[in-house]
Amino acid sequence: MNLTQPISGVSHAQRPREYSIEVNNLVKTYDTVRAVEGVNLRVEKGQIYALLGPNGAGKTTTINILTTLVLPTSGNARVAGLDVVKQAAEVRRRIGVTFQETVLDKSLSGRVLLDVHGRLYQLPKAEIKTRTEELVKMVELEEAIDRPVKTYSGGMKRRLELARGLMTHPEVLFLDEPTLGLDPQNRDRIWVYIERLKIETGLTILVTTHYMDEAEKLADRVGIIDGGKIVAEGTPTELIGAMGADVVKVSGTGGRERFVEALQRQEWVSFVGTLQLDATTLVQDVQIGLKTQAGRSLKPIIDLAEKCEFSVVDISIKRPSLNDVFLKHTGRRLRD
Ligand SMILES: Nc1ncnc2c1ncn2[C@@H]1O[C@H](COP(=O)(O)OP(=O)(O)OP(=O)(O)O)[C@@H](O)[C@H]1O
Ligand SMILES: [Mg+2]
Repeated sequence: MNLTQPISGVSHAQRPREYSIEVNNLVKTYDTVRAVEGVNLRVEKGQIYALLGPNGAGKTTTINILTTLVLPTSGNARVAGLDVVKQAAEVRRRIGVTFQETVLDKSLSGRVLLDVHGRLYQLPKAEIKTRTEELVKMVELEEAIDRPVKTYSGGMKRRLELARGLMTHPEVLFLDEPTLGLDPQNRDRIWVYIERLKIETGLTILVTTHYMDEAEKLADRVGIIDGGKIVAEGTPTELIGAMGADVVKVSGTGGRERFVEALQRQEWVSFVGTLQLDATTLVQDVQIGLKTQAGRSLKPIIDLAEKCEFSVVDISIKRPSLNDVFLKHTGRRLRD
């Protein structure tokens, strides 16, 4: 037997996974506020991980810790294999960040801002120049790059931020709400760049967003964060798959509480969600996740509603989406 031969039979799938981000029991407390309460997550090298959560869930705090801007109260995290507290300076050299709040000085031109950023990171002059050309082309800002940033639209500012985050050839990129407030066309454009980066450079990306459709379409894994904790995690397909077969939305008036309680006792129901509507609205919604296809459940649902004196105004069936996953785990919808 030739012992120098590599061991065969170790398939690709069995190879140990390489993680670019590893977070263990991360906690951040501000006085009485527990901003992050024991977050655990792992992002495989070359993947896109979306952190999805409502206002105040702890997304920005998590990113701030991972990018070494804020110290954790307890727990630890590694980025590109380096400890974010003990090896903060090295971590900073390996990452790119774009912030939720634009931190650009708007009286300067886009080109100057990229230049300042490059110099801050001590990139050689020639490299700043070629990198600027490349990135400006990628984010399609050729026309605007020499104009003051205050003349840019929201989408253009976001694209410039993205270019800035990429100046230093990061291994890991952190994007805090890169598409917040953009119209669908501009959002799509940002995501096209993000996808291209993933494919062409093998970059690992942690992105926060409250747009479910984005996370569903583009992220390899999604972590739903609420109240400082990850409440559900998986690939979009896994998360949606765990929802059951169909979701039925029932709108009506009257005894919603009783109807919800009755539904929760049914063996064929996987979850029930209600939406918080303003007090002036009489018609209220109930979302029912079913374990089987909706067809045969419609009659029992309507019968149950009648028994609970919930008068049905409208009933519809849809395939579950990440929106329903979110509703199931947090009891709320994300802000619109
Ligand atoms: N510097 C701080 N001092 C005190 N409390 C803070 C500080 N930073 C964040 N918090 C609190 O921590 C919680 C989490 O905030 P964080 O900004 O991480 O949420 P987020 O998920 O990014 O929300 P959003 O979607 O609104 O950006 C909030 O309750 C917030 O008020
Ligand atoms: Mg935030």
